Amino acid sequence: MSIFDSVTPITGGSKEAGRAYHAIPGEDGPTHRGDTDARVDAIVQNVSVKGANILDIGCSVGGISIGLAANGAGFVRGVDYDESAVAVGNSVIEKRGLSAKLEALDLNDKKTWVRVSNGHDVVVWLSQWMWMAKQIGFDEARDRLAGLDCETLVFETAQGPQDGEAGSNRVMGADGVASLLKDAGWSSLPVYVSPWFGRTMFVCERR
Ligand SMILES: C[S@@+](CC[C@H](N)C(=O)[O-])C[C@H]1O[C@@H](n2cnc3c(N)ncnc32)[C@H](O)[C@@H]1O
Repeated sequence: MSIFDSVTPITGGSKEAGRAYHAIPGEDGPTHRGDTDARVDAIVQNVSVKGANILDIGCSVGGISIGLAANGAGFVRGVDYDESAVAVGNSVIEKRGLSAKLEALDLNDKKTWVRVSNGHDVVVWLSQWMWMAKQIGFDEARDRLAGLDCETLVFETAQGPQDGEAGSNRVMGADGVASLLKDAGWSSLPVYVSPWFGRTMFVCERR
């Protein structure tokens, strides 16, 4: 019996029933990726989180959202199309009385994207962009990255279509991600390299 028993497999998220994509700080249970605490620490050390209005794109079970809310964020809105993951995360948020809420929404939909993506101090967009690029195409995904209206972006991605190769799984290393961010109008600083396939997390400001 674990808090993740109700998690179901989904494209881009959990690969196995009952196993969450990532860990929730302070909760036990099987996960694919276990470095949530380290990622939250890296964000808290490099971004003004206290009192901030934060959007977590592709929040999964909300480990990062929950970690940021526990570190004094004003409010964290997490969004993910994985209803089973969102339900688990919201149960933890409610249990702990945190200032956060996860919503089950498909961000590929343009109207949903426009409604959700604007108006936050900080956007946390970790390991979701590549899935968006695969689903809506590289150019549209890059335009969305370029058009984000926020003071600070925290970004991490792994694989994605590059150079117009829609659907490609070619690995995008840290240099490729920094170049993608530059093309999208962001200056980026690497702040954390994950044991999870060496993914690098960047804190970004407008150039
Ligand atoms: C690789 S996981 C990353 C989760 C978390 N951001 C992290 O870094 O630990 C990608 C997440 O994006 C979600 N996702 C993928 N495509 C999505 C879409 N079109 N709309 C909303 N969520 C999506 C998946 O359900 C999954 O939880």
